[in-house]
Amino acid sequence: MNILLLGSGGREHAIAYKLSQSKKCTQLFIAPGNAGTSGCGKNVSLDILDFEAVGKFVVENEVKMVVVGPEAPLVAGISDYFANDENLKSVTVIGPSRQGAMLEGSKDYAKEFMMRHSLPTARFRSFDKKSIKEGIKFLHELKAPYVLKADGLAAGKGVVILPTVEEAEKELKEMLEGAKFGDASAKVVIEEFLSGIELSVFVLTDGKHYKLLPSAKDYKRIGDGDTGLNTGGMGSISPVPFADKEFMSKVESRIVQPTVKGLIEEGIDYKGFIFIGLMNCGGDPYVIEYNVRMGDPETQSVFPRIKSDVVDLFEAVGQGTLNKASLDINYRTAATVVLVAGGYPEKYRKGDAITGIETVSEAIVFHAGTAKTEGKIVTAGGRVLAVTAIDENLPSALLKAYQEASKITFDGKYNRHDIGQDLLQL
Ligand code: AMP
Ligand code: GLY
Repeated sequence: MNILLLGSGGREHAIAYKLSQSKKCTQLFIAPGNAGTSGCGKNVSLDILDFEAVGKFVVENEVKMVVVGPEAPLVAGISDYFANDENLKSVTVIGPSRQGAMLEGSKDYAKEFMMRHSLPTARFRSFDKKSIKEGIKFLHELKAPYVLKADGLAAGKGVVILPTVEEAEKELKEMLEGAKFGDASAKVVIEEFLSGIELSVFVLTDGKHYKLLPSAKDYKRIGDGDTGLNTGGMGSISPVPFADKEFMSKVESRIVQPTVKGLIEEGIDYKGFIFIGLMNCGGDPYVIEYNVRMGDPETQSVFPRIKSDVVDLFEAVGQGTLNKASLDINYRTAATVVLVAGGYPEKYRKGDAITGIETVSEAIVFHAGTAKTEGKIVTAGGRVLAVTAIDENLPSALLKAYQEASKITFDGKYNRHDIGQDLLQL
């Protein structure tokens, strides 16, 4: 079968890597892809938010499955577009309907969903311009630090955590009255601060049944010891050592099952990934957020651990028979170190030649921000590469990942040095 994967980051390279290993995959197209995905299939230049163009490509190239990497096309309704088109409705789309994608597209919608289905999550209230006074009152009912979230998609920047109520009040005004995040902050969720250690749980669902994919932890800040600015993700580990059987059974019974049941009860069409951002608060899981896609760079640690044919799994998602599919996971640990361009996450360098990728033998190199010019691979984004090593345990996987990552060079290269260290000390 011909498959089209949408997206261009490290996550998509990791998905493409698994798709291309499938016996069922005849031709893999990646739109728009990057220098790494071109080794797994054919990169095609398509605007993934132009559904008409995507649909036309699918028909012309006899594509039978579309795997959606990022959230934007899902929130914009790509699954509904396919379902409502005579020529496209038989194509399996891995990604939820627009309504399902609201779990990521609107934080207020997601929190209301969690309330309706009694999921453990931080106490919250939502406010708009008209209710700003109540918002300020609510802030005074909470204890520091204060968590404010722009309701809509804000390119990962919409969550602000502040130490004093004065700063929180100012931020609330800037978000609501100053439209700090444009339309995305026309509504703001204010919630209680949860303290604990975070992890990401991934679920694949056909809308009725589900499979739990491996857990992962990502490292968001630019600096060692979780310091400095937030980034798209500087590394990841899978599995998460503290997400043991006991913890994961709480996650399943208190969060995953009520989520899937909630989708069914509300008649929400959901065939795809549910990425649940969780906080482990003293052994009890609380939902921080839903995403409707896989995580980046968590996918680079999670997907290489999947031993099953992912096209088999995705076909089962399309047919609603995921309960009959089997999911085999490599028990070993994956460690991913992200190499970024100098300056990232602020203004960063581009166009630097990358050398040494071919000398990496004990790890997989996933491309994120790379391009090919005149046969050479050069940096083309903030997060450039993700190096994933798999080994018997976390220390050995980390050692391998760092050893292999050091073989790659480009001007301005930077990576964190402490990925996974917090988990070793637990
Ligand atoms: P999000 O964009 O929703 O992933 O939020 C960004 C980050 O803010 C999360 O990964 C958490 O580290 C943090 N965060 C969000 N909500 C809370 C909360 N209620 N308590 C503590 N930290 C939070
Ligand atoms: N790693 C977090 C995300 O993909 O949103």
